[in-house]
Amino acid sequence: MNKVIIDTDIGVDDALAIAYASHHCDIVGITTVFGNVTVQQAVKNAKLFTEILGINTPIYRGLSRPLAIDPTPVNKTVHGEDGLGGVFNNHHNDDAEDAIRFIIDTIMANPGEITLIPIGPLTNIAAALSQEPRIAECVKQVIIMGGAFGTDGNQGNVTPLSEFNIWKDPHAADQVLSSQMPITMVPLDVTHRVLVTGDEIRKMGHQELIAMTEGYLKYSLEKEKFEGMAVHDALTISYLLLPDAFTIERAPLRVVTEGFATGLTLKKVTELGSRANPFSESRIQNVCINVDSDRVKKHLLTTLQTYKD
Ligand code: BDR
Ligand code: CA
Repeated sequence: MNKVIIDTDIGVDDALAIAYASHHCDIVGITTVFGNVTVQQAVKNAKLFTEILGINTPIYRGLSRPLAIDPTPVNKTVHGEDGLGGVFNNHHNDDAEDAIRFIIDTIMANPGEITLIPIGPLTNIAAALSQEPRIAECVKQVIIMGGAFGTDGNQGNVTPLSEFNIWKDPHAADQVLSSQMPITMVPLDVTHRVLVTGDEIRKMGHQELIAMTEGYLKYSLEKEKFEGMAVHDALTISYLLLPDAFTIERAPLRVVTEGFATGLTLKKVTELGSRANPFSESRIQNVCINVDSDRVKKHLLTTLQTYKD
């Protein structure tokens, strides 16, 4: 069984990713970060959601703000008041041990065995890399939901040029994407291709998962005239389990950290250029640019349908 650490700012699609992973992987820890919610709320959500799933996964607390910019406020319109649709009575506190230490210690103690799955801003991962650069060679792989590389016009969802997880902390994202870690990006280019409808979610049969997604679906119906959702973060787990359902391009990566294109993710596409090469330090990474949506969606829904309460 794949041993994974999921690093999350746990909102609705993060929770679906955890539910999906809990069925197929050994989740050795859930590390939390600010993003969809504050890090304090992320700890509480992770405790509550693992309790709902009936899994005994340790929860760790990561960083509460970006590395180099002022934090942007939490937006409650999509993921609800508490990030989990605002439908639960959460009795948990936000006490938890340090996430950065856990990430470093776990990867270093299990060389070549741990898959790191960041599905929020990359702040914890950048901090762990700075404290212990050897995690880059000891981690098995890193599967990141984030970024947008322009396929079918998918370039951003917070600004026209930037995806949420990258935009929240572009400096951390640039450190991670240009590092020596073996990375696969699962960007909007593919996550916007796997849309799950309200009816499909209601058929899952798990009342808490259904309740949690209601607000997200309502928002989508009002805004997009479509009662459904892109299950962004869950596709990292699909990639882990069904890598051949994805089409990959390989290239060194960078992130723009300043100016009007802040948060723009870039892959090197040309060898031309007679002056400084901003990609010269970056390793060649995987970027998912297409997906067999039917196969991936079927696998996800079949898994989630097995949770009945
Ligand atoms: C990402 O943004 C968050 O709101 C989602 O949880 C996902 O990780 C998609 O852009
Ligand atoms: Ca997320």
